[in-house]
Amino acid sequence: MDTVRCSSYAGPVTQAQHPAPGYFLGADETERARLLAQGEAHRAATEALLDRLDLPLGGRAVDFGCGPLGVLDLLSSRVGPAGEVVGLDSEPKMIGFAQASVAERGLDNVTLMQANAGATGLAADSFDLAHERLVLITLTSQQAVVDEMARVVRPGGWVMTQNVDWLTWTCEPAHPAWDALLGALAKTWQAIGMNPFTGRRMPALLRAADLTDVAIALSAHTQQAGQPNQLLLLRFIGIFRDRIISGGSIDASVLDRLTDELTEHLSRPETFTVQPLLFQVWGRKPG
Ligand SMILES: C[S@@+](CC[C@H](N)C(=O)[O-])C[C@H]1O[C@@H](n2cnc3c(N)ncnc32)[C@H](O)[C@@H]1O
Repeated sequence: MDTVRCSSYAGPVTQAQHPAPGYFLGADETERARLLAQGEAHRAATEALLDRLDLPLGGRAVDFGCGPLGVLDLLSSRVGPAGEVVGLDSEPKMIGFAQASVAERGLDNVTLMQANAGATGLAADSFDLAHERLVLITLTSQQAVVDEMARVVRPGGWVMTQNVDWLTWTCEPAHPAWDALLGALAKTWQAIGMNPFTGRRMPALLRAADLTDVAIALSAHTQQAGQPNQLLLLRFIGIFRDRIISGGSIDASVLDRLTDELTEHLSRPETFTVQPLLFQVWGRKPG
């Protein structure tokens, strides 16, 4: 691995040799702000699960696909000054955002690393906890990442995953444009090997990585006009527009009309969205 340094953070940033395909939501300021707000919404559920796992003071934890912060702050305070936290992400700009977050919060026990979550180059059996949140849902090669998390955790250590499942994703009042666009997007994702229902798949993925004591907790949120994920479906539709049209489920003029109708509907003060259901799934490496 190469080591590089960044001006905003004095700690080392290592760079693994296996580049990953790009993150489809990009790594600009808008996505940074959305991820920080979303992380705040998931903070209580994440803390509640960490309370159940015996991450020791002085221990080592790694956040796969940490984005601009992920759970680096939560892990940092739990392992304490004698412990160590590694944050890794494949996007250099996300690592830059994470460096800024780490420096702002004075998280001296956090090291950042640019790496592909499926092939990190980290030593085997070297962490008490490996965590990922909302990374697997963006990937087609999910098992490789869970296997890698299991590999780097020591015997007796924990793998903790948090991913959504579109089971609950809806708007109220209901609107036909929502149903048509969500259906077209799900079909497109599935055609390219992405899984909108990743949450429910997690227990099987952890078991296939030979983890034991696999357990599940669920939570969901709502959003309203002006909140960061209220228009997330429309953002996805914009990103996957060409693929939806070329897949033949909706033609361009219909897609544009439905997009306009749904934009108007979701902007109304009385319209709220129920966000995708968050599956927290965790398991222990035998030994
Ligand atoms: C939806 S964001 C979640 C960020 C963070 N875990 C959180 O909960 O706020 C997904 C993150 O995974 C990263 N990512 C996507 N594919 C990756 C890969 N193959 N290896 C490492 N990171 C990856 C993206 O760059 C992005 O920062």
